[in-house]
Amino acid sequence: MIVLDEKNRVFTLHTRSTTYQMKADRHQVLLHTYYGPRTEGGDLSYYIRSADRGFSPNPSEAGRDRAYSLDTLPQEYSGCGVGDFRTPALELEPADGSRAADLRYKSHKRRKGKYALPGLPAFFGGEEEWETLSVTLTDEAAGAEVELLYGVLEERDLITRAVRITNQGEKPLSVCRAASLNLDFFSPGELDLVTFDGCHIMERSVNRTPLHPGVHSVGSVRGTSSHHHNPFVILCQREAGEDSGLCYGAALLYSGNFEAAVEVTRTGNDRLTLGINPYHFRFVLAPGESFVTPEAALVCSPNGFGQMSRQFHRAIRENLLRDPWAGKRKPVLINNWEATEFNFDAELLVGIARSAAGLGMEMFVMDDGWFGNRNTDYSSLGDWQVDQKKLPGGLEALVPRIQKLGMTFGLWVEPEMVSEDSDLYRAHPDWALGIPGRAQTLGRSQMVLDFSRREVRDHIYGELRKVLDSAEIAYVKWDMNRSLTDVWSSALPPERQGEVYHRFVLGLYEMLERLRTDYPHILVEGCSGGGGRFDAGMLYYTPQIWCSDNTDAIDRLRIQYGTSFCYPVGTMGAHVSAVPNGQTGRSVPIRTRGVVAMCGTFGYEMDLRNCTEEEKTVVREQTETFKARWRLIQEGDYYRLTDPFREGPYTAWEQVSEDRREALVSVVMGTVHGALPFLTVKAKGLDPQASYRINGSTDRYTGEMLMNIGIPLPVPEGDYQSAQLYLEAR
Ligand code: GLA
Repeated sequence: MIVLDEKNRVFTLHTRSTTYQMKADRHQVLLHTYYGPRTEGGDLSYYIRSADRGFSPNPSEAGRDRAYSLDTLPQEYSGCGVGDFRTPALELEPADGSRAADLRYKSHKRRKGKYALPGLPAFFGGEEEWETLSVTLTDEAAGAEVELLYGVLEERDLITRAVRITNQGEKPLSVCRAASLNLDFFSPGELDLVTFDGCHIMERSVNRTPLHPGVHSVGSVRGTSSHHHNPFVILCQREAGEDSGLCYGAALLYSGNFEAAVEVTRTGNDRLTLGINPYHFRFVLAPGESFVTPEAALVCSPNGFGQMSRQFHRAIRENLLRDPWAGKRKPVLINNWEATEFNFDAELLVGIARSAAGLGMEMFVMDDGWFGNRNTDYSSLGDWQVDQKKLPGGLEALVPRIQKLGMTFGLWVEPEMVSEDSDLYRAHPDWALGIPGRAQTLGRSQMVLDFSRREVRDHIYGELRKVLDSAEIAYVKWDMNRSLTDVWSSALPPERQGEVYHRFVLGLYEMLERLRTDYPHILVEGCSGGGGRFDAGMLYYTPQIWCSDNTDAIDRLRIQYGTSFCYPVGTMGAHVSAVPNGQTGRSVPIRTRGVVAMCGTFGYEMDLRNCTEEEKTVVREQTETFKARWRLIQEGDYYRLTDPFREGPYTAWEQVSEDRREALVSVVMGTVHGALPFLTVKAKGLDPQASYRINGSTDRYTGEMLMNIGIPLPVPEGDYQSAQLYLEAR
């Protein structure tokens, strides 16, 4: 609910359990007055105090009042160059070369429904679910109008933000920095920042840092959101944990360069900014033109990380994903990559598919290596024609053979890329990003196509269409296997080169939107060397994303745990693969590999013909379990029961149905030792009064017992064993 106090110009956004407030003060500066647990109090600016802080300048309107300084007041959307020295949200450069931004309140508007951001990913939903507040600020000297957009999804405690900057002057205006989110707060001095960091094959490790004066930031300048840091961060009270304490989660719906920065000051006037990374960013606006930032989404939870995650999960599932399979069970898939890499032909693929079909799998995905002359990763990206040597007769011949096995067919592509050794690159060398006079930097022996250019996108899209139209394709894995370098576009003048990174992302989004519009039934899975572009922006176009190229079940416990803080289980691409694992050399029992992959999209990525009969029985049971429990697993409320980054005898998590009548507790043990203590796992989120059966046994236990005393776990008889405990109150 949005409450407007027109007289005092106080604008309050209420969600179910939180309140967010701003106020235009006597000098038209838009102050941020509050964000936290819900409060019904009116004007919350009473606690904002100011004092003459040495070296904090005063704007001209303040006259002789030295206590009034932009440097020490909480800003709703901060500028720069005129007295606020903290990390700015906005930097403008008018034609005279000055660098400042000084915003004053002009007007506001409230309406039902949610604002739209054409060309950008954004949360959506019905008129009844959402309310929008728009607050317009101006910087007269720069000739800029800045519209702050707020979407309120009350039930989910979700507040979205975006900013539209319009050049109202008569000369070009450059936007040199434009955060999507600026969140100022008077901190009690006891805040932690939680970030999700890693690298290829070990994404989204959870790092918690106590904040102290200075700037702490994470970000990406790789052109994608990256394996290295995720565009999702949490600020929390030092004592906050899974089930208690105040925390704020902030996600950016963007798949390119980003920066999340927290600046902590000695005086407690702290600030979080989140948005496009200002590195090599400058967007030139002609008179009348606008720049729109990507959307940021905030969830504040007064009750710890668990509640924050569950609110994000539901909002993402119901108001962000555009999944052709929404509400329906997706097919269990088998992917050939880890089994064959580039070395396959039609017979091998059909053989793998046949054995998978017999074990309950329903979709066969042909990964990299089916096009051009792609027998290694040194060639052929960009040449999207089926390799007739491997697949005689093309997809027209292969797909019906797969379908005869009762399976649908999916396909891997990497449209943003071109190999140096490709017909496409030989014909159009200028279509790859590259700086004139500099040797091109290769990554996996490939270059990045200039997706800021329409003709490049049109060509690639046309080639993909031919493939997609040649047979019945049910699924596409959209991969992206290198970072951007040599970022320069031959289609833009020198003063606009700072737009290329962003225009690349806009081009990518445009292509993905076209794909969605033309092939609405196709399930598109995102991928970037595993989880190198696992962000809320991509999820708008690709409702699931391959979580990591690391398929080792024990490493996956950490990767999927980190991913779960923002993103729902059903978005995490997860497959059972062969052992010893290709990334770690570890052998984990097949049961456990299944339990871990079931905390995701669930599929297989191995040659099942090599399994023993005993393993095949387990695989058959797993596909049956998933088919029976998919709704609970993917749409249930998700609870983290342990933290796999801390030493402990096991890792556990749980899904609980909305009516709390059903739950699935999954437990993965570590390595065994002699004389192990008897272990229990405590459930969460159950109905304390309800009486539950465990795995169909006749004994019954109240929810309160299972949550407070726990469930006894079997004694493991080897390393990395696991248990799935299905609780049912019927
Ligand atoms: C990336 C993906 C893998 C696989 C290979 C193919 O690394 O993450 O799953 O598709 O590319 O080259």
